[in-house]
Amino acid sequence: MVSSDHIGPNETGRIRATVKTDGKKGRILKTVQVETNDPVRPLVVLKLRANVIDAFHEKPLQPDAIFRSPCRKCHLDRGRDQMGAALFRADCIMCHMRGKSAPSISSLKKLSRERLKEAIEEGVPDSMMPGFSWRVGGPLTEAQIRSLLKYIKGR
Ligand code: HEC
Ligand code: HEC
Repeated sequence: MVSSDHIGPNETGRIRATVKTDGKKGRILKTVQVETNDPVRPLVVLKLRANVIDAFHEKPLQPDAIFRSPCRKCHLDRGRDQMGAALFRADCIMCHMRGKSAPSISSLKKLSRERLKEAIEEGVPDSMMPGFSWRVGGPLTEAQIRSLLKYIKGR
């Protein structure tokens, strides 16, 4: 947001920019392009650098902590009433993506249906994989778990 859309030679103005840090951590860079009718420098690129400190992921946590506040806002709420691919993107991908310790979706696909179902429903002991079935206190219905199996196996 610019304080005025008309800034004469040698005048000053203010530019307000907001950087969204949700889900980011470590060093981030955001650029703002300012276009003007200045014949010498019609385009100026402003660089905003920040170091985002991530208070949520610093200490070791219980796997089912993601089902509760303050974690559920990012880890669970977006998956409410979702199915299949959308549910996987909302509830699973943050741990099951390339570069993370949990297997990526292409590795999950190679597992048997029975193994997938068991791990999703009940979790994996001594790991950060919680049980997602409502029967063990998780958030997902049987229909949602079936939709995940179908999505993972069908890819
Ligand atoms: C602001 C959103 C947000 C909140 C709140 C949040 N997380 Fe996360 N979490 C993410 C994102 C995004 C990722 C994946 C990207 C990453 O690891 O940086 C992630 C990844 C994880 C991982 C996988 C880490 C890994 O490297 O494999 C665990 C475990 C986790 N979160 C647990 C928690 C717990 C427990 C809480 C609550 C104390 C929590 N998160 C709160 C967004 C959030
Ligand atoms: C907080 C991070 C986290 C979230 C969220 C998460 N997982 Fe996992 N998951 C893991 C980790 C870590 C493992 C590996 C456990 C091990 O073998 O030590 C795992 C293992 C699994 C396995 C078993 C893999 C095997 O080789 O037996 C399946 C299947 C699985 N996850 C599916 C899912 C699905 C589907 C979702 C979403 C509903 C999900 N996970 C959400 C962390 C997570």
